[in-house]
Amino acid sequence: MPGSPISVLVATRNPGKVREIADLLPGDSGLSFHTLDEAGISPQPGEESVEVHETFAENARAKAAFFHPLSDGWVLAEDSGLCVDALDGAPGVGSKRFSNRADLSGEALDRANIDALLRALEEVPAEKRGAEFRCAVALLTPDGRAETSAGVCRGRIRSRPRGGGGFGYDPLFVPEGFGRTMAELRPEEKHAISHRGRAFGKLAELLIGLT
Ligand code: IMP
Repeated sequence: MPGSPISVLVATRNPGKVREIADLLPGDSGLSFHTLDEAGISPQPGEESVEVHETFAENARAKAAFFHPLSDGWVLAEDSGLCVDALDGAPGVGSKRFSNRADLSGEALDRANIDALLRALEEVPAEKRGAEFRCAVALLTPDGRAETSAGVCRGRIRSRPRGGGGFGYDPLFVPEGFGRTMAELRPEEKHAISHRGRAFGKLAELLIGLT
């Protein structure tokens, strides 16, 4: 794609998320991605209470809309999580805080969430441990148009964590058609089948008509 890339503000303070998004979209997408901090946007009052909705799509749209007035025009937001059949879709939009450990972050929080999920599923037999990762992406354009896409990855929850890659619930999640957990897949294997990979694959198709 000719010309200088369009700069897209990603509604996150996590540089890892922006790197992953750049990896998921084709190199010739014509876009470059920046975190809120890279764009010089300091923490805003109310920022922490934007993701209060019951669906991933609503949360992604709300996050993009919150930061749109502070951007140069293009804003991308995503929300994702794990929905477990035997828990009626929980932890769902509450995936990040399932363990209720507001004092933890990073790998310590991931471990606490994994322990909380294993406890919640203690009595659930192997054949009833179906689950899916879901991801919703919202892209707001300079004229305020919203493009959204979503991706799902089905699998099952193991009774013990395995593997050192990925993040979050990856060590417990065995994707359909695999004998390994998400945490045992190579990054490119995960991207090809993951909820996030699928959501961004669909977004890339939408972008062809937009940029
Ligand atoms: P957020 O999108 O940063 O609000 O966090 C969503 C939460 O869902 C993460 O903290 C993880 O616990 C979980 N999650 C989302 N995507 C994945 C994934 O690809 N692997 C493992 N856990 C995930």
